[in-house]
Amino acid sequence: MSQPQRFIQVFDSSQAVAKAGAELFRDLAQKQIQDHGRFTVALSGGSTPKQMFELLASPDFVHSIDWARIHFFWGDERSVPLEHPDSNYRTAREILLSRIPFVAENVHAMPAWDLNPQSASDYQNTIARVLGCSAGGEPPAFDLIYLGMGADAHTASLFPGTKALGESVQWVVRNEVPKLNTTRMTFTYPLINAADHVCFLVCGADKAEPLQHVLEGAVNLELYPSQGVKPAGNLSWYLDGLAAARLQRRS
Ligand code: 6PG
Repeated sequence: MSQPQRFIQVFDSSQAVAKAGAELFRDLAQKQIQDHGRFTVALSGGSTPKQMFELLASPDFVHSIDWARIHFFWGDERSVPLEHPDSNYRTAREILLSRIPFVAENVHAMPAWDLNPQSASDYQNTIARVLGCSAGGEPPAFDLIYLGMGADAHTASLFPGTKALGESVQWVVRNEVPKLNTTRMTFTYPLINAADHVCFLVCGADKAEPLQHVLEGAVNLELYPSQGVKPAGNLSWYLDGLAAARLQRRS
């Protein structure tokens, strides 16, 4: 395996960030489907990926991807029903899934709505089944995991000062987020960092200060959880100029 690449790319708009994210999806999907017959991807939530979902469903991309061979997962989810406006699954379904010929059994919504204590390990079992490994062993390598970053430097639902930051065995956990007065479900660092490729999409002026800390400041995962993302494979940071405004090093 070639040496993992870590690179930062700054684009002139959030639309250009979305285009780069969509091109990465298309290129990695084509290669993995050609080499292994399928592509495993974990989508991120929040608002940033919406433009990328729109592009992937557009004529520029939709016909160049073999959607039936793609397994969709989510890197985190809110504790709401899948049809709730806050659901990350619903966002992806409305903008992307509803406009592509996906295979239903290959779409694996994260059951954060299910208050059963087993639901996080059930999702871990699904990941193990689909990616072909033991649910009790080392985490498997997703082909691609998308992440966003909040203005508090959280990623997925790994928020500053929360218990999931210290999880070193389980791949998926529930995580209490006191500042939001909620409990989320999230991938943990072990699973994220096993990935072949992780791509952050980060846009907007409110991300400039936390991003400068994450990429150029002292390491403190409790305060800046996005610093804990150090995948075995490649790590891409796709940024717009507003988010990158305070970086000393922009490549
Ligand atoms: C979520 C996301 C979260 C998101 C960041 C950035 O469920 O909210 O997974 O980690 O990526 O909060 O959100 P924006 O893209 O909306 O700024």
